[in-house]
Amino acid sequence: MPELNLPFFGHGGDYNPDQWRDRPDILKEDIRLMKLAGCNLMSVGIFAWSALEPEEGRFDFDWLEDVLDRFAENGIYAFLATPSGARPAWMSEKYPEVLRVREDGGRNLHGYRHNHCFTSPVYRKFVRRINTALAERFGHHPAVVGWHVSNEYGGACHCELCQEAFREFLKREYGTLDALNHAWWTGFWSKTYTDWSQLHSPSPVGERYVHGLTLSWKRFVTHQTVDFMRAEVEPLHRIAPHLPVTTNLMTLYEGLDPFRFAEVLDFASFDNYPNWGSADDEAEAAYAALNFDIVRNVLKRPFALMESTPSQVNWQEVCKLKKPGMHLLSSLHAVAHGADTVQYFQWRQSRGGWEKFHGAVVSHAGHEHTRTFRDVAEVGRVLPRLTGVLGASTPARAALIFDWDNRWALGDSQGPRRETHYEDTAFEHYRALKRCGVDIDVIDEGADLSSYALVAAPMLYMVKPGVAEKLESFVQKGGTLVATCRTGCVDRDDLCFLGGFPGPLRRLLGVWIEETDALYDGETNEIRMADGRACACSTLCDLIHAETARVLGEYGRDFYAGMPAVTVNDFGAGHAYYIATRPGVEFLADFYRSRLAEAGVAPLIRDLPAGVQAASRAGADGRYLFVMNFSGKPVQVQLPEGVNLLTGAAAGGTAELEVNGAAVVQIKEA
Ligand code: GLA
Ligand code: ZN
Repeated sequence: MPELNLPFFGHGGDYNPDQWRDRPDILKEDIRLMKLAGCNLMSVGIFAWSALEPEEGRFDFDWLEDVLDRFAENGIYAFLATPSGARPAWMSEKYPEVLRVREDGGRNLHGYRHNHCFTSPVYRKFVRRINTALAERFGHHPAVVGWHVSNEYGGACHCELCQEAFREFLKREYGTLDALNHAWWTGFWSKTYTDWSQLHSPSPVGERYVHGLTLSWKRFVTHQTVDFMRAEVEPLHRIAPHLPVTTNLMTLYEGLDPFRFAEVLDFASFDNYPNWGSADDEAEAAYAALNFDIVRNVLKRPFALMESTPSQVNWQEVCKLKKPGMHLLSSLHAVAHGADTVQYFQWRQSRGGWEKFHGAVVSHAGHEHTRTFRDVAEVGRVLPRLTGVLGASTPARAALIFDWDNRWALGDSQGPRRETHYEDTAFEHYRALKRCGVDIDVIDEGADLSSYALVAAPMLYMVKPGVAEKLESFVQKGGTLVATCRTGCVDRDDLCFLGGFPGPLRRLLGVWIEETDALYDGETNEIRMADGRACACSTLCDLIHAETARVLGEYGRDFYAGMPAVTVNDFGAGHAYYIATRPGVEFLADFYRSRLAEAGVAPLIRDLPAGVQAASRAGADGRYLFVMNFSGKPVQVQLPEGVNLLTGAAAGGTAELEVNGAAVVQIKEA
């Protein structure tokens, strides 16, 4: 499989010359401005289908060839897009089966983007034909270094073709209707299916209370989208086997399991849109880092930052400008967590349409004398200094399990609370680990754990086959596991474990969860630790019995005051912790600081100040430490000895980071 192996840091953005074909002066000026901004990599033609195939079967690629030729003459490269993210009106008009059908059974009108059926043979035929034509014409063009396949796949279609594909998927999953009926527990409310044809996607006007169905449908939507991408990629790989493919994934997007895209991606890529400057930049940065740490782990390789805004977005309630320094800081932040490119949406602001006020490198003013352009040009000057970082891996010894099947099952589960706050809880654990100043991998349940010293598995509600054994062997060999409330409740089919929760993890955690109390929003209980510390806890409180585990903390209130709230089970050479409720980030950060120290995972820098993040990458030429100030005030940090690649000056000892300041230290190895 080809990899993204650029010898330089890719820097650029979505470029939509199709919108400016009647302005050759602007297209020419773009090249001058790209060079001035230190931009060398553009994603071209993402939504250009109407321009590429204005009528069925009539292709017009000459304008694109002109653009790519001009790129090649000027040392600019391209991720060439396949245009399947939006399609021309003629197609919807003549072949309505390409239009998406909603869950209520109604077919959409033409409009917006990703409004198509991923199963439709007609849509697949059109996509295949244009992808083939693009690959034949440009697959060996000197400017093209990769494929940007479609754009932010998302959503689902409920048409008859998709229903049939869903039934085939279910036959492969379960083999027989008996097996499906058992797995979905269809005896409940008389749901038993007696023929495959009775199966239908979940719908507000039909079935949506069979959890096996809702979970299977979500799995199917990912499966079918991956299958669609595979079909898109086939002609690209066949005609241009040297070019790597990607599709841009979205921030913690619930609808698709990103880990399942591993089989169709040559490199992963991600669109990053934090709300910088809204309230708490440290939280925004932690959330972005969580996403980076997921995307990097899809293939366990560096990824492309496919989109970010050089200025403000246009789709928040209130769209803040990036404050001085934030553009370089946020770009370095992605690189720190494994990005090997820094790209934007978009290069030049569209003159009309829905995104005309979305930030872009070149604004409607049309020249380089803007704050945003200078910010981008600064990134363009800095990235070449970091060339040694390219391809470098993230040496994480701590991991957090965030699993989409688990997320879907928890999201559907009824009781003890409608909202279980899985995403929020996982984020709190991630943020606490981040505050400890360590590198983190965010992985799914299937991942290999052998490189980690500590694994956090918040709300591991669904324990899939083999996972309990894997966690046991991880701890047995000396690993530290941290589990929380709502763990070990259901199997892969969403059937409850019999014999007591946490089901297959009971031996490892050494606790039995007899009941779970639910707290109202704003209501708290209290954890009282044996060492005298106390903190509030919320959302869910498991009432547990320590079987082989030792009790480290108890509940402070309600009828279960005095029952265990935090336990540890010594298991083989390692330790399995159980936090039976949901404490806040402060408690968790303290907790993880101790666990990491015990597990021998040292922080990347000593005395990390509040609001400062650290991340590292390990490359052929040594280790690179990124220290980034999101605190909103100047801070002092302790840097290791080496060279600060941002300034070229020697680093070591106390250094001051200004507001939105950063240091990237190439560490001098002892
Ligand atoms: C997404 C899309 C882009 C653009 C940006 C705007 O990431 O991929 O086409 O709409 O959002 O923020
Ligand atoms: Zn469909």
